[in-house]
Amino acid sequence: MHSLGILLSGRGSNFVAIADSIDAGRIPDARIAVVISNKADAPGIATARARGLTALVIPSKGRSREEHDREVVAVLKQHGVDLVCLAGYMRLLSPWFVQQFPRRILNIHPSLLPAFPGLEAQEQAFAYGVKVSGCTVHFVDEELDHGAIIVQKAVPVLETDDEHTLAARILVQEHVAYTEAVNIVLRGKFEIVGRRLQMKRA
Ligand code: GRF
Repeated sequence: MHSLGILLSGRGSNFVAIADSIDAGRIPDARIAVVISNKADAPGIATARARGLTALVIPSKGRSREEHDREVVAVLKQHGVDLVCLAGYMRLLSPWFVQQFPRRILNIHPSLLPAFPGLEAQEQAFAYGVKVSGCTVHFVDEELDHGAIIVQKAVPVLETDDEHTLAARILVQEHVAYTEAVNIVLRGKFEIVGRRLQMKRA
């Protein structure tokens, strides 16, 4: 049984998508061991508690990255976490944190990386005028929105879109993409060659 740790800072819809996939058997042999937020008022924490999950707030405000990361990693390890899923976690991980879970930290980003890393990716893409955007689930490395890509989903930008309608359609694909990526990583039937994730043949 795999134990997932979810880190979030806000709404938590990607967390809910993963939790629903586990409950529905779409992510077999896994459970969510703990949900952690750096923000006390993150709606995702209340949602996690309502689902009967262990959900903890570890405030980051006013603390050094190092100190905060050490506490988060300690809690993840206490709960036996073997896969960390960042789901709207608005905080950079220190290199030390990344090294604690080699190729075991995933992030979701609402653009087709390497386009539009950083904040408000959907708004960036809309304002740039791209005709196709989407989302990316990738391994976390020491650089922002940078590690090897696991799954991407393309989403067309429609004539009728504004940045909000585009973001909403991307979000639907995020939820699909995260479940796919978690399954790929948990099954482990891949190798990473350079930056490329390649599935191994059965
Ligand atoms: C998502 O758009 C995700 O791609 C980005 O932050 C947002 C989090 O949304 N990293 P939610 O909290 O999962 O609803």
